[in-house]
Amino acid sequence: MKCEVFFREQAWAYLTELLASEKAVIICDSNTKICLNHLYKACPATAILPIIEIPAGEENKKLNTCEKVWYELIELNANRKTILLNLGGGVVTDLGGFAASTFMRGIRFVNIPTSMLAMVDAAIGGKTGVDFGSLKNMIGTFSQPKAVLIDSNFLKTLPKRHYSSGLGEVLKHAFISDVAILDLMHANEDELISVSVNTKMNVVKADEFEAGERKKLNFGHTIGHAVESHFLATQNPVYHGEAVAAGMLMESFVSQSVCGLDEKDFNSICTMTDSIFKRVLISDLDWIEIKKLLVYDKKNTNGNTQFVLLSKLGEAVIDQEVSEELLDKAFSFYLKKS
Ligand SMILES: NC(=O)c1ccc[n+]([C@@H]2O[C@H](COP(=O)([O-])OP(=O)(O)OC[C@H]3O[C@@H](n4cnc5c(N)ncnc54)[C@H](O)[C@@H]3O)[C@@H](O)[C@H]2O)c1
Ligand SMILES: [Zn+2]
Repeated sequence: MKCEVFFREQAWAYLTELLASEKAVIICDSNTKICLNHLYKACPATAILPIIEIPAGEENKKLNTCEKVWYELIELNANRKTILLNLGGGVVTDLGGFAASTFMRGIRFVNIPTSMLAMVDAAIGGKTGVDFGSLKNMIGTFSQPKAVLIDSNFLKTLPKRHYSSGLGEVLKHAFISDVAILDLMHANEDELISVSVNTKMNVVKADEFEAGERKKLNFGHTIGHAVESHFLATQNPVYHGEAVAAGMLMESFVSQSVCGLDEKDFNSICTMTDSIFKRVLISDLDWIEIKKLLVYDKKNTNGNTQFVLLSKLGEAVIDQEVSEELLDKAFSFYLKKS
């Protein structure tokens, strides 16, 4: 896997050198354009670059937005040597990466994540894509960014709810592989980000195209994606990390009887998750719809819903099947605290 991750000064030195010889276009959204201030200060060479702005929000992570990006690239005379600089949260890095990986059969892109979630997760690993109807990330490619440039200064303007949402993925990295991350949760932000980035990089390096090991990153996401998709079109959309937190709690509950997760570990997972996330309000009717969406999760094979579960804190097991009856019990457990 060819993708380098640079932090702060190193990141800006890398970009300055790159722009000395390459043509680039910035893509940001209607909120992350505020991040241009810091970008220009940190790397003055970016100040003259053309900008493509897309509307912010998951509801715009769709083909239609991508088409507009392709049109604008053509208007800007972009060619196969142009580099796309994706300045934003997971929506911009996912959509920008997808637009780049398909434009003229693929141009290079650099991710400059500005949200917590994008820094620790979305910007890394080479999965790009858009939603299709209510189906999350249904259309996409595996395509590695040329580099990922991380600077936590961008987080200063990130709304608090989005900041917490990003911590969901940090918790996930702790639960599936590196319990030591839990001790850093309230410590230095930069350290927390870099340890979490390393966890993700290691998993992706071991299995770039998700034949096995990488599936572990889907812990909490089988139910989480269904919850997120279900609420996407409503008045109260649930943020990605919040949906994943719900998924992690229910999937941990199930892990007890399917994979032998012990009560002590289960309780730690609940305490840690509940300390960051309020439980999502899910009605019985919502739950019926959410279960229907589970069938469409694209990681499923042979029509059976496959789960990543935990055998203990820090150890994930892939390709697990769970009965509907047990899922319903997990839902009842989840409701108790909401
Ligand atoms: N490709 C992957 O491997 C991967 C992994 C995890 C998540 N994702 C995707 O990432 C997306 C979620 O990412 P997200 O939580 O970053 O969402 P997002 O991109 O929508 O960002 C959240 C909100 O914060 C704003 N924002 C971002 N940075 C800001 C800043 N510094 N200052 C002010 N506002 C800022 C955005 O405009 C948006 O309104 C989902 O679409 C999810 O599917 C992808
Ligand atoms: Zn996620």
